[in-house]
This record gives sequence, structure tokens and C-alpha cells, in this order.
Amino acid sequence: MVKIAVVSDIHSNWPALRAVLDDLGRHGYDLLVCAGDIVGYGAFPNECLDALRKYMGVCVAGNHDDGVRSYRKLLNDGTRGTEEEVRRALKSADVGFLLGKNPDFDRHQLSYNFDAHTAAMHNAEVLTPENAEYLENLSTAPYFDSQKGFGLVHGSFSGRESSHPRNRFEGIYVTDESLARMAMQNMFFYTGDDCVHVGLGLVGHTHVPMISSGWINYDNFDFMERAQLEGGQFKMFFSEGDVAKSSRVISIEQAEEPVQAGFWKRKVLFNPGSVGQPRHGSPRACYGTVYIEGEHITVDFREVEYPIEEAQEKMAEDKLRFSEDLIKRLERGR
Ligand SMILES: [Fe+2]
Repeated sequence: MVKIAVVSDIHSNWPALRAVLDDLGRHGYDLLVCAGDIVGYGAFPNECLDALRKYMGVCVAGNHDDGVRSYRKLLNDGTRGTEEEVRRALKSADVGFLLGKNPDFDRHQLSYNFDAHTAAMHNAEVLTPENAEYLENLSTAPYFDSQKGFGLVHGSFSGRESSHPRNRFEGIYVTDESLARMAMQNMFFYTGDDCVHVGLGLVGHTHVPMISSGWINYDNFDFMERAQLEGGQFKMFFSEGDVAKSSRVISIEQAEEPVQAGFWKRKVLFNPGSVGQPRHGSPRACYGTVYIEGEHITVDFREVEYPIEEAQEKMAEDKLRFSEDLIKRLERGR
């Protein structure tokens, strides 16, 4: 059996990540993976990256990682001025000076959110060279492990390299059943002429925990939801009613079920929610543990208390780049 700990959307919230790593330490895991957005929004990017570089198995980049490194790039590429001028602009959140007509900023989603930009400026300015280099080397493309049988991406496997942020791997929000289906239909990769499918997809980006499952026909990419086999409801475990309010630990057993003749294969898509900026109505830090044993996949969704005020106080030291709303939403969990 392989036990994979899944974290996502940490967003420079070190008190939250510290609590999750403590909890993980008590429960143990074989591999720690991150579905992206290590940085952005919060005030502790270096603490989060220092810890993750120590423990991390696999990590993909999210749209905020991409945003922070785009700002970081301005420090030495000369397009917006000298390093000193760029540093001054990052510090004073001089959006006009920094954005200019730089095409790098048009393609990621931060373009839509002013608060995200100013927080990203903070993170880009304070990153250590080691952490900046680590961030720079992360890929937004999906990662696949055929041996363990999982894929990892920030937004959706149905994304692509695109100039439009909402079509990119790290930009698509899987928020309903049709988007989950598209993600699961694209959980495969090629090695030479071989097409390799994986049964488990791990995603983030929405900051809302979710699990979905179905069956795919390898011959024609037909897809069946669980409901079609069981005559029940398609289940998206958005935690509004199903998960967070009922319990802190949820196990969802996706046991082997009788599958119709042909090349039907089971698929599971899991989003563990956000470590550092939960938006599902509970302010606790979220993460998941996935157990893979042959065709059996069990998911534990966990929520952990952490000192929210510690994250908020650090942000409040720099009101220019961390808005009141960014600070307050941590306690709302929205
Ligand atoms: Fe995020």
C-alpha cells in the first residue's frame, strides 16, 4: 500500500502549513505531494518553501507560483528598470510601473485580482535566492506517476498550454460535475506510442475539498459516472454539507465495483482543499491522505486547527500589500 499525503494552496501561510506538517508527522506517509500555489496571498513564503523543500516528493506550480516568479523575474531582466528600481516598486506596490506591457502578466490569472498582485509583489521581493530558484523550476504541466498510479496538476488535466489563463492547466477551476469528468477523461499521458492511464487525479486551485469518481472506456473515451452504475446521485463531496461540518476526518472508500464488459477503468479525482486559505466555510487548514492498494483507493480528508492570528499579524505589518479583506478572510474560511 502507498500512502500519499496531498497538500495544496498553501499560499505562504506558515502557521497553517506547520500545523498540517505536525499532523502529518503523527500519522505518517510515504510520499508528500503538492498541487501548487505554495506562495501568494500570505506573508511567509520563505518559511513555507524552506519546509516543503525538505519534505516534498513532487510538486507542480499553481497560478500564484507563476505570478510570484513573474514579478521575481523583473528584478534582473531589465525590462522594467534596474534591480533597485524594481525592488522599490515591489515594496511600494507600484502596480502601474511593474505591470506595464509585460506579456508575462497577461497570461496568468492574477490579472483579475488586485489583492493577489500586491501580495505576490511582497513574496517576490522577500524570496531567498534558493527559494526563488526552487519556484522557478516548478512546472505547471501535469505530473504523472504510472507506477503509483496517480497524476498531479494545479487546476485540471483538461487544460493546455494556452495564452488564456482560464484554459491553462493551472487556471481551470473544477467546480462541477462536467468539469470533473473532463479532468478525469484527460488523466493519461504518452510514452512513445503507448497511452498510459492513471486511476487517481490530484488537483487544487478551488480551495474547496472535492472528490469525484467514474469509469472511463479506454477504447472510445466514453465516461460513466458512479450514478449510472448504481442508480444513485453523482457525488461531488463539496464540503458545504457533506464534509467539513460533519466531521474532521472523512474516509471515502472507492472500492472495486463490477465493471461492464470492455475496457472500462475506474477514475477518482480528489481535491484536498486549501492549507493556507480555505474557502469552504471552515477556517481550519485542510489536507488529504490517499491510500492506494491495487485498485482500491481510500481518501482521508482532514482539517486542522492552527493559530490564524499569527498569519494575520504578519500580514498586518504590511497593509500596503496585504489588504484588509485578505487578512479577514482567513478567519471566515471563505
Ligand atoms: Fe490557490
